[in-house]
Amino acid sequence: THTPHNLLITGGAGFIGANFAHWTAAHHPDAHMVVLDALTYAGNRASLNGIDPNQLTFIHGDICDRPLVERILHDHDIDTVVHFAAESHNDNSILDASPFLTTNVTGTWTLLEAVRHEREERNAHCACGIGGDSHTPSATHTHDIRFHHISTDEVYGDLALDEPRKFTEATAYNPSSPYSASKAASDHLVRAWHRTYGLATTISNCSNNYGAYQHVEKFIPRQITNILAGIRPKLYGQGLAVRDWIHVDDHCDAVWRILTHGRVGETYLIGADGERSNIDVLRMILQRMGLPEDAFDHVNDRPGGDRRYAIDASKIMRELGWRPQHADFARGLDETIEWYRSHEEWWRPAKAATEEKYRRQGH
Ligand code: NAD
Ligand code: DAU
Repeated sequence: THTPHNLLITGGAGFIGANFAHWTAAHHPDAHMVVLDALTYAGNRASLNGIDPNQLTFIHGDICDRPLVERILHDHDIDTVVHFAAESHNDNSILDASPFLTTNVTGTWTLLEAVRHEREERNAHCACGIGGDSHTPSATHTHDIRFHHISTDEVYGDLALDEPRKFTEATAYNPSSPYSASKAASDHLVRAWHRTYGLATTISNCSNNYGAYQHVEKFIPRQITNILAGIRPKLYGQGLAVRDWIHVDDHCDAVWRILTHGRVGETYLIGADGERSNIDVLRMILQRMGLPEDAFDHVNDRPGGDRRYAIDASKIMRELGWRPQHADFARGLDETIEWYRSHEEWWRPAKAATEEKYRRQGH
């Protein structure tokens, strides 16, 4: 087992990274967190408000800045990296893939190289006297830095709507969009740095998350905030595509389990058996917010859009004993609606620009 003491959380001002920081603060108050985030359009420093400043150091910077990453690993004696930072939105990647290649591919490579360099420095300079060539890490003393890469089920492409098959860790990579291709590339880099350089890596591929602090460009928060702002919800195509929804807190819990008990070099799929079509989810939102089920517009579908994702999470359940605690989707949706109702100051500044961008795409 591994006990994270000093974590570097990349992308911690984004949706899942911020939820992970709050989750860690609530469950592991002895762990110190450094958040490194470039505060792109998707990052919001305010998403980390409320976490004790003694437990969290925020650094505004880019994961592609290698000297900065090396300095952080060294100065904060980082033993665990949790890598959330990414360009994460498929529609944006269709408009312009370049930041996806830079952050998701070059950024992940930069982090891996910085971790490798820092491990060598620790081997060479550790007062334990087992540095350099003769250094042999042991269970009680190691200079390894645990590197957990957060990835997506989209690397596997999509499934037909009616086939019983789900994704497993053995499913072949087959990404569809520029975003998912860049995430697939990043997964391959992580695997290669484990195999070639022996980095202590793990990977998780999770299905669609929902919950607080999710950007208003994403499906569920877009529809909730549209209704709150008096805009009709927008459904791509006929809304028959299926996503496998998981509450973000269940994802955070699974990541912590992998950090502490996961086997180095392994990949774990994370999902909570939450398959639902987009139109069903939209109707649930409309109904729960007191509107008729047909009070929405059909808009252009996403070019090349994936039909269905579905996760078989039996490996993480069997090996690590993880179970989703928030599998009641209706309840999670109500809580999420309530969160957006009571946090208008958080989402309102991004709303108009997001809708204008969608309007230009016919979405
Ligand atoms: P997000 O877009 O909400 O947040 C991304 C964060 O990364 C932002 O705070 C942004 O400022 C930061 N960032 C972007 N480029 C950066 C750079 N070059 N240097 C430093 N920081 C940078 O994304 P999210 O939805 O929270 O997703 C987080 C991770 O989880 C991503 O790797 C994504 O691929 C993965 N994932 C997401 C989902 C989902 O449903 N949202 C599901 C599975 C996996
Ligand atoms: O599966 C994990 C992935 O889930 C993550 O890797 C991505 O980072 C995350 O953004 C998410 O990708 P999706 O493309 O599945 O999520 P999105 O919220 O963009 O869209 C979900 C579905 O809803 C998709 O079929 C398109 C549709 N949609 C989306 C929007 C924004 C609509 O019908 N209307 C909309 O307004």
